Amino acid sequence: MEPKRIIVGITGASGAPYAKRLLERLAQAECEIHLVASALGRRLLSDECGIKRLDADELTGGRGALLTIHNENDLGGPIASGSFRHDGMIIVPCSGNTMSKVAYGLTDNQVQRAAMVTLKERRRLILAHRETPLSLVEIEAMRAATLAGAIILPLSPGFYLNPTGMDDLVDFMVARMLDLLGVPHEIQPTWDEHLAAEREARRAARG
Ligand SMILES: Cc1cc2nc3c(=O)[nH]c(=O)nc-3n(C[C@H](O)[C@H](O)[C@H](O)COP(=O)(O)O)c2cc1C
Repeated sequence: MEPKRIIVGITGASGAPYAKRLLERLAQAECEIHLVASALGRRLLSDECGIKRLDADELTGGRGALLTIHNENDLGGPIASGSFRHDGMIIVPCSGNTMSKVAYGLTDNQVQRAAMVTLKERRRLILAHRETPLSLVEIEAMRAATLAGAIILPLSPGFYLNPTGMDDLVDFMVARMLDLLGVPHEIQPTWDEHLAAEREARRAARG
């Protein structure tokens, strides 16, 4: 199978650990990764993950050759063009600011421009939004983005797989992201496997 080519945008919402883990997982799956981060996205990477500067090797667990870092201010960069063929773009975490701009067609930086181009070319766009509670402004922006073809993925991990810590919660969401990007992974058991393991544990406890 051809390696997938994925664009990852990082913006200024809380949740940088999701982006960090996703980059590592995409690199493990040998994807060609194109990264673009807004200024606030870089600040949150620093605040929440201690990543002071974007370094391809550090972000991919030593697989830096797979990662290209694009400048947020370069509106003429390759990922800003429809001729840049790719298998999907995800913005994670996605701020309300960026989601609203993408929903209404504003392109002030290369994160937003690449997302707009992804929509116009009818490619997959995932907005992993984080904010709570939501105002009607954001709800309407989610509706507009969905009607335009984007997938809104709220960063709200489930607890039904019995997470034992933050890593499990992050992986819960990253597994959903990889599913939507069509990237194979074995991060978590499927629900079927989880139920089977529970049945087995009950059987073992009964003796
Ligand atoms: C520490 C910090 C945390 C923030 N968390 C969020 C958040 O979770 N969701 C959100 O929509 N905005 C959040 N913001 C506000 C955005 O960063 C702000 O709207 C910014 O303009 C987003 O710019 P960008 O979309 O270009 O990254 C946060 C800002 C800071 C400084």
